[in-house]
Amino acid sequence: MKLTVRQKIFVFTGLLVLILGFSHILTNKFYMESLFDKFRKEEISASYLNTTPGEQIEILKTYFLGKMQQMWLEKWVLFVVTGLFFSFWVSGVLTIPLRKLVAAIVRVAQGDLDVKVPVQSKDEYGKVIQAFNDMTLRLREAEEARRRLVADVAHELRTPLSIMQLKLENAQQTGQYVPPEMLLRLQDEVIRLSLLVEDLHILSLAETGRLGLDFKPLDLSERLEQIVDDVKMEAIENGLEMSYYSNTRPVTVMADARRITQVFINLLTNAIRYTPEGGKISVVIEDKVQDGDKVYTCVSVKDTGIGIPAEELTHLFDRFYRVEKARSRHTGGTGLGLSIAHHLVRAHGGFIRVESEPNRGTTFTVYLPLNI
Ligand SMILES: Nc1ncnc2c1ncn2[C@@H]1O[C@H](COP(=O)(O)OP(=O)(O)OP(=O)(O)O)[C@@H](O)[C@H]1O
Ligand SMILES: [Mg+2]
Repeated sequence: MKLTVRQKIFVFTGLLVLILGFSHILTNKFYMESLFDKFRKEEISASYLNTTPGEQIEILKTYFLGKMQQMWLEKWVLFVVTGLFFSFWVSGVLTIPLRKLVAAIVRVAQGDLDVKVPVQSKDEYGKVIQAFNDMTLRLREAEEARRRLVADVAHELRTPLSIMQLKLENAQQTGQYVPPEMLLRLQDEVIRLSLLVEDLHILSLAETGRLGLDFKPLDLSERLEQIVDDVKMEAIENGLEMSYYSNTRPVTVMADARRITQVFINLLTNAIRYTPEGGKISVVIEDKVQDGDKVYTCVSVKDTGIGIPAEELTHLFDRFYRVEKARSRHTGGTGLGLSIAHHLVRAHGGFIRVESEPNRGTTFTVYLPLNI
């Protein structure tokens, strides 16, 4: 039935009123007729006919009023019982979905998120049940994400911690002098841990929209030139060529300079990390690129590196996601860089696109809205 709950209640009560109304008219009609017949048979006798017309009317009146009073009482009892029974039945039928929903909500409140209530109607209850099912699905996903996050964080923390523990135990047991190289390695692990904790902190702030960005007009072309300059040394050390190109200048965007710098540092360190010696990395900025009905400033970070298989691209911006974990582990990445970049760009009202071909190279393009 495609009626809303309100329409259903209206139809049912209307039906009750109609039934009671009709039965009132019908019972009155038949009862009156039978009463007249009865009166004719029982009361109209010779003695009745001998009375004056005034007395005859009085007898008729008393007879009818007495009988009618009794009938009204019986009818009233019958109507009240029928009305109550009907209302009890209708309220039961109309609240079946609500009772199912309440039972499901109680289960969710007790911590059981695996509940699903079947949607059997398109009325308000149907919509509420659908919304409830969507809500529990989101809760299940959030719970799953939380579990995964805790497991990932624990896993990432365990490795550097166990390395440090082992080295310190060794040094303590042998009682030997600790050489500076070993202290340096321990320090490296501590730095790795602090970076990881810092990344997680930024990520959690960005995900919950509590990052508190300091938007100011920023000349992105100038800023990119500085960033490229800063990482160029590292690229050269890795045997890579790095170039920067801007078609116009200045390219002003409203952005938080510190966070936007972090986005491009993450993309550039990836490009350096995942491009073998002899490769090329180029950064190109274009202002006023139309996408749909919006205009963006676009920055592409293009490398000629190892590339990313097509099936991996959808997970690339997930937390802790690394293509071929072993390969990336060796290079020291934790798989948070792209996730952070994605959230920071989103907080600026933009988005990142990626194109890649294994063994040919990867291009990440950051779209930032011109006016936010
Ligand atoms: N330019 C690129 N070329 C090839 N693979 C890439 C490139 N950028 C990212 N990837 C792949 O995507 C994965 C996720 O990148 P992300 O920056 O999130 O993590 P990471 O570099 O491994 O670690 P982190 O940035 O946290 O130190 C990387 O592990 C790598 O496998
Ligand atoms: Mg990275």
